[in-house]
Amino acid sequence: MDGFQGKTALVTGGAGGIGSMVCEALLESGCRVVLHDLPASGGAAKARALCQTFGDGQAIFAPGDLADLPGLKRESQALAAAVDGFDFLVNNAAIDPVAPIEAYSIDEFLAVQTINAHAAFILCQTLAPHMKRKGGGGIVNVMSVILSGGWSEKVPYAMSKGALLGLTRSLARELGPHNIRVNAVSPGAIPTALEHKHYGNDRAAFDHRTIKMQSLPFRSDIRDVADAALYLLSPLSRFITGQELHVNGGMYMG
Ligand SMILES: NC(=O)c1ccc[n+]([C@@H]2O[C@H](COP(=O)([O-])OP(=O)(O)OC[C@H]3O[C@@H](n4cnc5c(N)ncnc54)[C@H](O)[C@@H]3O)[C@@H](O)[C@H]2O)c1
Repeated sequence: MDGFQGKTALVTGGAGGIGSMVCEALLESGCRVVLHDLPASGGAAKARALCQTFGDGQAIFAPGDLADLPGLKRESQALAAAVDGFDFLVNNAAIDPVAPIEAYSIDEFLAVQTINAHAAFILCQTLAPHMKRKGGGGIVNVMSVILSGGWSEKVPYAMSKGALLGLTRSLARELGPHNIRVNAVSPGAIPTALEHKHYGNDRAAFDHRTIKMQSLPFRSDIRDVADAALYLLSPLSRFITGQELHVNGGMYMG
């Protein structure tokens, strides 16, 4: 895909299912990638493996915890200075606890908002000045079909994704004049570690139930979401900003 050569992207949750595929898709298009994830996520090994395929220095692991907002601000400022600013940002990392509303402690509730939404605000705040200086850029926030359809026992997660929609639309207005586009991708059910907790002990039954909720008769792949993110960062979508792109096989049609 054109538009990525010589550019640098920061991808949060880059060691996880969808995030690691977003990194690969960007690397295939010639983009350098900084993969942010928890220190114990396996991100270092993933970055080393990606460098073997795509070239030395093309993938860099940035260990960190999105729950620590002051630390994230410091570290992302240092990172941006070290790579001469980022052209692209993909706010992808998230946690999705499942419990009835009365079971969440205040700390658990706040952790979901902090990791899934507030950290994205901090990264946009830190990276936007560099994108302005460079004359443009692109941001993709990874949301979820849950915001459109609702889902029992995932209220904090759904609320955090709603915050990302607000971030996407208002920041698109604010940064558009600087040629920086801000969009969102909302995956449906995608087979990753995040989804495992919903399998119970019967993956086949889960797949069957999921396909019945979709229009298309097959399970998705992480590449489906990565390609949507790549499209929204590429010049192919140059006139698209402030939008939510649903990638859900027809599970929800907004
Ligand atoms: N898989 C699905 O079915 C699905 C559906 C809808 C939306 N999504 C969204 O897609 C995105 C990626 O999900 P996934 O399925 O690849 O999940 P995943 O669990 O495979 O990956 C998430 C990554 O985020 C990282 N992470 C979690 N907490 C962190 C923290 N405090 N600091 C830094 N990194 C942290 C994890 O280490 C992991 O690598 C998420 O925003 C999720 O809400 C996924």
